[in-house]
Amino acid sequence: MSLEQYEAWGQKGRTTYVLTDSVDDAGDLCGIFWAGQKELPHRTDYTESLDPKFYQHTYAFRLYGPARGKGLSHAVLTVCMGDYVSRLTLPVGAWLEVNGLNPPALRMDQKMGYRVVSGLNDQGQLILARRYD
Ligand SMILES: CC(C)(COP(=O)(O)OP(=O)(O)OC[C@H]1O[C@@H](n2cnc3c(N)ncnc32)[C@H](O)[C@@H]1OP(=O)(O)O)[C@@H](O)C(=O)NCCC(=O)NCCS
Repeated sequence: MSLEQYEAWGQKGRTTYVLTDSVDDAGDLCGIFWAGQKELPHRTDYTESLDPKFYQHTYAFRLYGPARGKGLSHAVLTVCMGDYVSRLTLPVGAWLEVNGLNPPALRMDQKMGYRVVSGLNDQGQLILARRYD
């Protein structure tokens, strides 16, 4: 993406965390996590009733290259989401849109306490949700 696109994305008010392989600024980028407010998708295949006013938060996470497949994701997500949620007034709800054909992501999000609350749509996407109390 261009710098302009990055700055436009920055206007959405996301909270962003980066994982590098060094404690100083010279480290290589190993992963990015962001969390923020985003409206629950309108879908007709929710398997339970979710209040869109409550389920307002979401996150996305990406590890790069050599950082993958080492079991890092759970520890990093726990720290990042723990920090993000600690700044919110509880209780709050969070939802995730996950590709049903992405087992590592699905497994990771379920380990983070999220449960599947929708069917699989035409694009292969599932919605997961959880409460933070
Ligand atoms: C999704 C992602 C963050 C996972 O990170 P990771 O550190 O490489 O994943 P892990 O090695 O911790 O594996 C996560 C879990 O999935 C499991 N897993 C991995 N591959 C699997 C497969 N093919 N089938 C089933 N489970 C699988 C792992 O065993 C692990 O579970 P465990 O901790 O109970 O053993 C990383 O692959 C990534 O950045 N992907 C691209 C971006 C993305 O898809 N982000 C998620 C949506 S926002």
